[in-house]
Amino acid sequence: MARLFSPVANTIARASLVAAVALPVGAIVMGSVVSRSPANTNVGVAFEQPVPFSHAHHSIELGIDCRYCHTSVTKSSSAGIPSTETCMSCHSQIWTDSPLLEPVRQSWAEGKPIRFASTGEVGWNRVAKVPEFVYFNHSIHIARGIQCNECHGNIQEQHMTAKGKPFFMKWCLDCHRKPEKALYVDEQQPDLTPQEKVFAFYRKIQEGAKLSARELALKKGRDYQPSTEELRKGQELVQQLNIKVKTLADCYICHR
Ligand code: HEC
Ligand code: HEC
Ligand code: HEC
Ligand code: HEC
Ligand code: HEC
Repeated sequence: MARLFSPVANTIARASLVAAVALPVGAIVMGSVVSRSPANTNVGVAFEQPVPFSHAHHSIELGIDCRYCHTSVTKSSSAGIPSTETCMSCHSQIWTDSPLLEPVRQSWAEGKPIRFASTGEVGWNRVAKVPEFVYFNHSIHIARGIQCNECHGNIQEQHMTAKGKPFFMKWCLDCHRKPEKALYVDEQQPDLTPQEKVFAFYRKIQEGAKLSARELALKKGRDYQPSTEELRKGQELVQQLNIKVKTLADCYICHR
């Protein structure tokens, strides 16, 4: 797999590191002390939304793949939020009178997409977010087989979406220093690519297939302590996938 960023880009990133990292420090250190308290991380708190969209209904009961709605998750840095047309592909025929779907019908009629809410506009309230000065990229994590639930918790069981993990820097770094903890092969389907494995996981849940101890923890959004044997296999995957553990915790990876 081609690297996402050229060495030149990395050099530039390294050069601009002082600016990228030092600048925000003063501005946010005060704020971050306050926002670190558990009460402010919002983990596990269901957000109010203009339409009570349920991942439990849509992704497990109906079996709709994450990629049907979050179309860019394997291709770009952001996962993307579904267009009104995506909802209407079904809801122009089912639940057409539901008052809960009124904002969707209105958006369709007016040709105004439902985006993430900004002030004064009807939109989805943002659940999972890192500060502007942090660079994140979905596609590379999915390509390496990191499960959505590793970072978003038990999303497929939720009726109203809640944040799964606090997204502290330390949390990102814990995995970047030891990615072998999170890398695994589905022993029942060893031929899947790491990316295919990410989505096959939800099909297994939907079909009620037997899950390994790790998969059960992922399903529930719980932390998992891999065995020595699992860590050894994780190490093998680190090698095979050519993951550059030496540089993965460097500042410029996430602060560009
Ligand atoms: C039928 C469409 C649909 C499917 C399928 C779907 N989602 Fe979503 N997802 C949405 C919508 C709409 C929102 C915004 C409303 C909300 O937060 O519940 C959303 C929000 C999210 C968010 C929170 C984003 C934020 O920052 O506010 C995450 C994380 C997420 N989805 C992950 C997943 C995962 C993982 C899957 C597959 C298991 C999945 N979604 C399947 C439609 C979908
Ligand atoms: C593949 C078809 C399909 C797509 C796409 C789809 N839905 Fe649904 N949706 C359904 C079905 C079927 C139900 C009924 C589920 C049930 O009650 O078990 C439903 C139920 C709902 C409900 C509950 C309605 C009520 O009155 O209880 C809401 C709200 C909803 N969907 C919102 C959305 C939104 C928002 C989108 C787009 C992001 C979306 N749906 C995309 C099929 C779909
Ligand atoms: C390595 C951790 C990680 C994994 C794995 C991950 N996400 Fe995310 N996700 C994040 C972070 C961090 C954000 C906030 C990004 C930001 O603020 O720019 C986010 C934001 C989102 C959002 C809202 C904003 C957007 O458009 O990106 C959606 C939707 C989402 N994720 C869906 C998914 C789905 C679906 C999967 C699995 C296919 C997935 N995520 C896997 C960490 C992760
Ligand atoms: C569960 C493990 C895990 C977590 C949690 C995680 N990452 Fe990663 N991240 C990885 C792996 C594995 C790679 C792939 C590295 C590679 O292929 O060389 C990666 C790659 C990246 C890259 C691309 C690196 C490059 O080579 O350019 C960025 C940026 C990144 N992560 C940011 C974040 C941020 C920000 C967070 C926290 C919000 C986060 N990650 C959380 C495992 C994780
Ligand atoms: C794997 C991704 C990742 C790497 C690597 C990383 N950071 Fe961060 N950093 C984050 C995230 C996410 C936040 C925002 C959440 C938080 O404040 O904990 C953050 C926040 C910060 C802040 C804001 C203040 C604070 O503590 O909240 C500073 C300063 C910072 N990082 C400096 C650094 C420096 C210096 C390095 C290199 C030694 C570094 N970061 C490496 C992800 C990363």
